[in-house]
Amino acid sequence: MKLGLVGYPVGHSLSPWIHERLMEQQNVSGTYELFETSPESFDSYIETLKKEGLDGFNVTVPYKETIIPHLTDLDDSARVLGAVNTVKQTERGWIGYNTDGIGFVDSIKNRFPERLHNEAQILMLGSGGAARGIYHALIQSGVARVDVANRTPAKAEALLEMNDTMVKSKALDLQEAEEDLARYDVVIQTTSVGMSPNHNQAIISLKRLKPGAVVSDIVYRPMETAFLIDAKAQGASLHYGHEMLLQQAVYAFKIWTGTNPDAFKLLDEFESKLK
Ligand code: ATR
Repeated sequence: MKLGLVGYPVGHSLSPWIHERLMEQQNVSGTYELFETSPESFDSYIETLKKEGLDGFNVTVPYKETIIPHLTDLDDSARVLGAVNTVKQTERGWIGYNTDGIGFVDSIKNRFPERLHNEAQILMLGSGGAARGIYHALIQSGVARVDVANRTPAKAEALLEMNDTMVKSKALDLQEAEEDLARYDVVIQTTSVGMSPNHNQAIISLKRLKPGAVVSDIVYRPMETAFLIDAKAQGASLHYGHEMLLQQAVYAFKIWTGTNPDAFKLLDEFESKLK
């Protein structure tokens, strides 16, 4: 397997480590290389990459959208989101996928199998690209509604409209979310607030959290964000950003290789690497 990652910059990426471990676990021989290119040379770089004979590659910032004109086709999630993080070489050419949302949903469902059911009251914080992927995957997985709170509520409304008009989810501002927090069984933080070096910031206070709620943060640097520290103090069950990161990589690996790796087996080692 000839695999890799396209982005700018990619030097600090954890993807090579993850995919090399997955290759070991699944007895797949191959390489995972970093392909770094600046925006000015992106188009010509990608056309040259087509001649490299890659079996597949990941795409990261800032190219998740600009890669699309270079692809033959998109799967459903990539088409709906207008963003690609995984490309597979097929007989027809390069096909784009998006495993971010499904990676999130798989990892939270694996950890808390009974908590994301049809009646669950779910609150998502944020309305950017990551939020769109997660929202779409949650609704696809059979969850009935997900309320969305955002600093700019109009963007939360736009996210809900873009997805499924049959779903009766509600858009809120962050203050309303804080005040109404006791209604929710699952709270998902999808913005970059709290990411290093701003590790003391939390998007909202969890003072009014429902006892026993699940709280998830997609930020994985630091591994335990100020938001999750607050959640822990309220007695919540925690779901960490690095779990999603690992699961979306496993999903990409499945697409490329047809194997079925176990993300849990890598989790301890991955956590020590992040600390
Ligand atoms: P990504 O694609 O990584 O999700 P993005 O599209 O830039 O990033 O989205 C950023 C999200 O983080 C948005 O929901 C943004 O809120 P706005 O829509 O109001 O801009 C949210 N965000 C970023 N910084 C924030 C902050 N300091 N406080 C609250 N929300 C913030």
